[in-house]
Amino acid sequence: MKKFYPHEKVFQEVQDYFINLVLEQLERVRNISIQDEKFSFHNLRPIKIGFIDGDGIGPFIIQEAKRILSILLEDEIRKSDVVFEDIEGLTLERRIKENKAIPDDVFDKILKCNVLLKGPTTTPKEGEGLPNIESANVALRRELDLFANIRPVSIPQKKINWVFFRENTEDLYTLGSKGIEFEDMFGIDFRLISYKGSYRIIRMAFEYAKNNGYKRVTAVNKANVIKTTDGIFLKVFYEVAKNYPEIKADDWFIDIMAAKLIDEKRRSEFEIFVLPNLFGDILTDQAAEIQGGVGTAGSANIGTKYAMFEAIHGSAPRMVQENRHHYADPSSIIKASAMMLEFIGFNNIAKKINMALEIATQFERKIVITGRSDGATTKEFGDYLLSLILDNKLEEKYNNFINKV
Ligand code: IPM
Ligand code: MG
Repeated sequence: MKKFYPHEKVFQEVQDYFINLVLEQLERVRNISIQDEKFSFHNLRPIKIGFIDGDGIGPFIIQEAKRILSILLEDEIRKSDVVFEDIEGLTLERRIKENKAIPDDVFDKILKCNVLLKGPTTTPKEGEGLPNIESANVALRRELDLFANIRPVSIPQKKINWVFFRENTEDLYTLGSKGIEFEDMFGIDFRLISYKGSYRIIRMAFEYAKNNGYKRVTAVNKANVIKTTDGIFLKVFYEVAKNYPEIKADDWFIDIMAAKLIDEKRRSEFEIFVLPNLFGDILTDQAAEIQGGVGTAGSANIGTKYAMFEAIHGSAPRMVQENRHHYADPSSIIKASAMMLEFIGFNNIAKKINMALEIATQFERKIVITGRSDGATTKEFGDYLLSLILDNKLEEKYNNFINKV
């Protein structure tokens, strides 16, 4: 953020600052590639998975995911087809000390991995008395160009099967740390949406719909008010939609969309959503809450060279302060682990994890996590999941539940 103190020279300074921002963004947007260069790690062996603990409850839920993954990938790890790498140091303490969103040595280690499983990181906000460093998430997504944030929400009992394609590098996030303030008067933040940035996420949403048998893609926007940027997003959306005549394309304003997600009569009609960054951030928390809480939802951040998988929620520092961290729900990061396994070609294991998660959290619910001492611990829940995954009647059990819906 840049503070300006009104005086005669201010207009020149503001102009220079703004022109620089525009030049930087012109450069970034020019370099966005919209070639359909599908990259895949399905057959890449050895594949290196970097584990990043994060802050707050992060280390505790990551530890559980890692324990489950090491059991399920035992053979691959022994054959060195899969390599685990612990990446230490992406902590709030280090970020504050170095006044940097990602310390250099951490970033070097990240670049040497193919995919990352990341715990939530704490982002200080203005007024907290901490240095106002940029969010590690936002920086990682930008630096690794992880432009697509994919967040599935599935509730078979309510016939809900949603997949959100959230644009992950633009919108208010691109220049979120670069707003300007005129001392004691007002502040301005900048919202940026590019044609190419919109195109690549929208195409990905339609491609996913086509390849997975979905019939509808919905764009979320507020183009009635935010005319320029959301106008671009919608224009690109309907342009891309023309290439998929078999898929219904429609658009909804963010406010009524939020209402429709809790409309029990209509919500199951929606399938794939594609949204600018901030609307995606907000709506996916709401969708996750409908699924059973933000602690249940995983997310994939996909780029053209790297991919990072994480929970959709934050680091819950309050749970650590209140000494409740060992009651943290690991479902979200385990769901993210399943998404990672699918991405790197272990579809069978991913499928088992997904079935076990649904049985554990939506059907059988033998062991329930509440985040407090009246519920199970992270490890007890992990053990429960493992027993389901390793049960050779898992699929039969799952189908029994599904058939009763
Ligand atoms: C998310 C989170 C992040 C975001 C925060 C931690 C910066 O809320 O992944 O949804 O806003 O994108
Ligand atoms: Mg969020």
